[in-house]
Amino acid sequence: MNPDPCTLPFTIMSKEKILKLLAASKTGFVSGTDLAFRIGISRTMVWKHIKALEHEGFVIEGVPSQGYRITTTPDLLRQADIRQGLKTRIIGKDIRLFPEVASTNTLAMEAASQGAPEGTVIIAETQTKGKGRLGRQWISPKGNLYFSVILRPDIPTHKAPLITLVGAVAVASAIRKHCSVLAAIKWPNDILIVGRKVAGLLTEMSAEPDRIRHIALGIGIDVNMALEELPLEVRMNSTTLSAETGANIDRRLLLHQVLQDLEQWYKVFLTRESDVLKEWELLNMTINNRVAVSGSGQAFEGLAQGIDSEGRLMVALEDGTIRIVAAGDVTIIKGYRG
Ligand code: BTN
Repeated sequence: MNPDPCTLPFTIMSKEKILKLLAASKTGFVSGTDLAFRIGISRTMVWKHIKALEHEGFVIEGVPSQGYRITTTPDLLRQADIRQGLKTRIIGKDIRLFPEVASTNTLAMEAASQGAPEGTVIIAETQTKGKGRLGRQWISPKGNLYFSVILRPDIPTHKAPLITLVGAVAVASAIRKHCSVLAAIKWPNDILIVGRKVAGLLTEMSAEPDRIRHIALGIGIDVNMALEELPLEVRMNSTTLSAETGANIDRRLLLHQVLQDLEQWYKVFLTRESDVLKEWELLNMTINNRVAVSGSGQAFEGLAQGIDSEGRLMVALEDGTIRIVAAGDVTIIKGYRG
């Protein structure tokens, strides 16, 4: 069973207050007595909170005559400040953060079936059974972003795959803005930088024949992990945002950018879906390339010509016939000059 979402009882609030006071101090130092007085707790409690923060990865120096000072802040998402500065109205109204889950998508589907509102975001630092497309595993070590967004669009069921395209547009444009790298979409939902995968999306749905109950739009972005965390066969075609930029990426700010772009493109989708398809085409690296299509019982090559109004890939074969691909793997054939 997955844990309950983090809440903010008094003890956690005191710990957060200690962090705020230490961060706000001009010298960096605040004495234990001062912390205890300003929060209204005992010095023993201050000491216990300091130990708890050290356990979370903070390195805190204690100097007898001056007090405590933070020297290293861990790369952790924190429930207390994750919403701060997020400029969205629907997406992220309810954010649930977990240290570890089996899969944020599984949890989001469960939460949605129990009535969680549209825009709820389930985030985890790690996943033990992260799900990829076509039944694959999504290896989920610490340092990256793993989250799922609950959506309840009032659209016909056959249009649901377009939600993945909305997500791909949001992720590619957010990465471009936040990291200044040329992220591009490979059909249907891979985000690549110079040919290496940096993010993937997985959409799951509960629906009736003519109506969508809810969707979990799952997004995994390789941000700060060491590439060695991935098995060799995956590592060869993968990258991370920190490897591409040469800098550690602030995951909270990147998450904000993705959620903001997602809200923007989701709204566009609900009013003028053709605008999303146009943006997808601008950000994609598949169309006008020769591709090999495999998986889901198919194996052929052809020229990727475009996507149709349901987001399916149209591939022209040698004999001029057009194959419509709804699911599968696409490899861009390098070195082709035809
Ligand atoms: C793919 O490219 O194969 C899709 C990967 C999707 C991974 C994300 S991580 C958050 C969410 N939870 C999951 O179990 N999967 C998605």
